[in-house]
Amino acid sequence: MSEGTESAALAELAKRRGFFFGSSEAYGGVGGFYTYGPQGAALKSNVEEAWRDRFAVQEGNLEIEAPTIMPEPVFEASGHLDGFDDMLVECAECGESHRADHLIEDNSELEDAETLSPEEAAEKIADLGLVCPNCGAELAGQSVEEFNLMFGTNIGPGSKTPGYLRPETAQGIFVEFPRIKEYARNRLPFGVTQVGRAYRNEISPRKNIVRTREFTQAELEQFIDPERDEPDLSSVEDVEVRLYPATEQQDDDGDYLDTTIGEAVDEGIIANGWVGYYLGIAQEWYEHIGVDMERFRFRQHLPGELAHYAADCWDAESEVDGDWIEIAGFAYRGDYDLSKHGEHADDDFTVFQQYDEPKTVERAVVDPDMATLGPEFGAQAADVAEALETLAERDPDAFDADEVTLDIDGEAVTVDTDVANFSVETQTEAGEHITPHVVEPSFGVDRTVYTLLVHAYEQDEVDGEARTFLSLSPTIAPTNVGVFPLVSNVDELVDLADDVAEELRAAGFAVVYDDSGSIGRRYRRQDEVGTPFCVTIDRDGIEGAGDTTVTIRERDTGRQVRVPVDSLVETFVGLRAGTTSFDDVLDANEVVEA
Ligand code: GAP
Repeated sequence: MSEGTESAALAELAKRRGFFFGSSEAYGGVGGFYTYGPQGAALKSNVEEAWRDRFAVQEGNLEIEAPTIMPEPVFEASGHLDGFDDMLVECAECGESHRADHLIEDNSELEDAETLSPEEAAEKIADLGLVCPNCGAELAGQSVEEFNLMFGTNIGPGSKTPGYLRPETAQGIFVEFPRIKEYARNRLPFGVTQVGRAYRNEISPRKNIVRTREFTQAELEQFIDPERDEPDLSSVEDVEVRLYPATEQQDDDGDYLDTTIGEAVDEGIIANGWVGYYLGIAQEWYEHIGVDMERFRFRQHLPGELAHYAADCWDAESEVDGDWIEIAGFAYRGDYDLSKHGEHADDDFTVFQQYDEPKTVERAVVDPDMATLGPEFGAQAADVAEALETLAERDPDAFDADEVTLDIDGEAVTVDTDVANFSVETQTEAGEHITPHVVEPSFGVDRTVYTLLVHAYEQDEVDGEARTFLSLSPTIAPTNVGVFPLVSNVDELVDLADDVAEELRAAGFAVVYDDSGSIGRRYRRQDEVGTPFCVTIDRDGIEGAGDTTVTIRERDTGRQVRVPVDSLVETFVGLRAGTTSFDDVLDANEVVEA
């Protein structure tokens, strides 16, 4: 399908066949909010389950579920209140708001306009002669403002307790770290996951479910001791990946680097082993759920593009309509989050790390003489004593002098060193408190769903008729099996079809039972929603000697095979898990010529 048409064709199919559509349309609709219909909700739920299985269960990580509204101090600490902004330019003519960096990128060669300051963005808009995409009015001269993306609210009546809808699920994990570390028995490394809603008051939502104001994230926070914890790369070192490092993006002749995770980590292209580990797992997972890996890459963030918390970041990107969209981010967040919450909150965000052997250390200590400090400094005496302790830890040599100068609430205070009773003691220490570092794979579920749908959208011709089908992987397809009695007026066929549907449902398969219209029409209906297999029940299967048989048809190729009805559940278990291929089923049974 040609560029630019994929999204439009998909949006039409998505609405008509119950994948997703704009919400509250009965009231005129509201930008950036989408409802998943029955097919879409099932597909999304299957993607979430597949993610949960791979990134929580298989990795032995801990899943939590935190509230979506959190009080203001959380976001003061996290930096979102001050720094979670996008650049807004408003049209003076029609009042429509636009994201300034996107306007610039859409109309120039610039790829990282979000690194511009608001003033630079306003200048660029004027230089490029940009106009309002809504009404065509000139935007030159309009100021560009920082716009905070968080949705605010009040918790309880009145305005005493402001709160915000979380802009990322991650904060729910960081804030609960003091409880979760106890659960993890204070042993690093450990990972915590959460799948849930996040909210951002996007200036200009676009590409339907790609940029919305309410969306689902699947996030993993891997807590590590950066001095000690290394991932075991053996399971991912040979995974082949297509990387687009920052240096290549900045180079005029820059190109992709096709390499393996092992090589990329060894050569320092991926600087952090944990980031490399999760890129490897993600590459395999995306392939497993059906992303077209020819339209997939990992792109490193350019230095100016990094979020306020990130030291390095790689995005998983998929190609849709000729554009690359970010579907997940893999950030090295250092100790930013836990340090910030440790500074702002009244709890302990560190972990005590036991040394392999107890260590003997020399420690500078003071024992301030309060009988002298009290009369001399009055109400400030306790602060002076605390400042002496801090100075002893930070700069013990300062006590070689006769006096030291301390900063007490911005005032310089001089104290005789004799009063401090400075000494160096030998102590034995069993370990130390460290603030864990965080590696964060953060997946957008909606963008994953969108990518799967776009990459699965196909058209061909069957029996001279045009056909549209979704070649979704059996692992995540919303409906697993269509069950069709060939005719609906023969009791035996209808009874058997009912039994087949019931047995498959009891085994956990999503089944659509359809007995109306020609068999071709029924296949087309299931093809369009990506049902990978249909079972047809006909007279040949119940007449004559031997097993009762039914016919399975494969969606993409239309190939058919007659199998004993008793083997259906086992066959579909294998087909859905990907442990059995349709070729295997053909080899073991009687092929039916279509
Ligand atoms: N905790 C890190 C974090 O939130 P992010 O890159 O801002 O990082 C992670 O978001 C993922 O969430 C993105 O890769 C994207 O897939 C998804 N996402 C972000 N904003 C979105 C939006 N407005 N609509 C849909 N998905 C979004």
